[in-house]
Amino acid sequence: MSQENFLAAPHHQPLKQSVVVVPDGTTCIEFARKVTEKNRQNEDWDESFFVCDVGWILDQYKRWKKELPRVEVYYAVKANSLQPVISTLAALGCGFDCASKNEIAMVLNLGASKDRIIYSHTCKFSSYITFAKEKGVYPMTFDNEEEIHKVKKYFPNARLVVRIRSDDKEARVTFGSKFGATVDYAKILIQKAYDLKMNVVGVSFHVGSGSPGLKSYETAIENARNLFDFAKEIGYNFDLLDIGGGFPATKFDESIYTFEHMANVVRESLDKNFPVGCGVKIIAEPGRFFPGGAYSLVTNVIGKRKITQDSVSYFIGDGIYNSFTHVLLENTSFQPVPLSKPCNKNPVSSTIFGVSCDGGDVVSPMTKVPEVEMNDWLFWSGEQSLLN
Ligand SMILES: Cc1ncc(COP(=O)(O)O)c(C=O)c1O
Repeated sequence: MSQENFLAAPHHQPLKQSVVVVPDGTTCIEFARKVTEKNRQNEDWDESFFVCDVGWILDQYKRWKKELPRVEVYYAVKANSLQPVISTLAALGCGFDCASKNEIAMVLNLGASKDRIIYSHTCKFSSYITFAKEKGVYPMTFDNEEEIHKVKKYFPNARLVVRIRSDDKEARVTFGSKFGATVDYAKILIQKAYDLKMNVVGVSFHVGSGSPGLKSYETAIENARNLFDFAKEIGYNFDLLDIGGGFPATKFDESIYTFEHMANVVRESLDKNFPVGCGVKIIAEPGRFFPGGAYSLVTNVIGKRKITQDSVSYFIGDGIYNSFTHVLLENTSFQPVPLSKPCNKNPVSSTIFGVSCDGGDVVSPMTKVPEVEMNDWLFWSGEQSLLN
């Protein structure tokens, strides 16, 4: 890594952070080591903290602009809602995909424009719809008839976007059983909304997170085209296409397809179905793509049990219900690197337990790590797709 801006964030106080400019070529692990060494004498200082490489976010943004210049970024806040990510992307002029009232309030507070937010949840609290109305956030998704009635009651001038189902079987996380109408049902919904005099303006989809296949984007874009044409026949003039997320963040995610691979397929398919000049605004809701490799985590060893000469278990100040939720949600395995230097010991079979009292809170069940001591620090790289 050779970015210039790093940021150390105390884990439980995300807004009390300091931005540090480091010499070019400094790695996150080197920076984390310096932070822990500086605080060595402070015995109260044992909470986990994040290191955010802001330069990584900027590089991802440049990559996006190069590959998909026609597709405007509406960052999916749910992926990582920490201030450095939101503020950086807001400063770059990105929009935001918010899934709740809190997310809308937070991005507005951090400098986002109300005109660049989509409320992307197909089943919303009535009170949140009212909040969106008060804040002037018009675009919002739906995939069922009840939602049309709800939005009509609380925000009749909202700009509705119908979400279609577009599961990709290869994706690690799919959304189809929870969100998205089939194309046939979407047609019924569009007709229903038309009869209710609601303003439907476009189509959205999400092919799934974590290495989705390429074909799914093509199919979803074709299905969206079909719905744009249908809508035109009944009297609408759709002008918004939202191609969702699913773009790979890190080398781990890119082991199957790189972002450039995916962008190539998406670009060609958009050019075919929604050519330049067609009058449709195209947005995407990339989530993990932006913070994915930017965030590393540093955890303190708060407990150690030496089981045998060659096997140890450790307790760390974090766990699968906090920063390591991907262990639960995506079956991801994580491998820490001890920060203590010099690290000349041989790797030992280690089990790393999370901080909670749940016996299942195991961050790394069987891993090989050079033996560390109480109060040493373990570094967990963002390249493993942590924290989003
Ligand atoms: C509606 C919606 N948009 C965007 C995203 C971001 O997806 P990804 O992190 O795969 O880019 C998600 C993830 O849950 C989502 O539910």
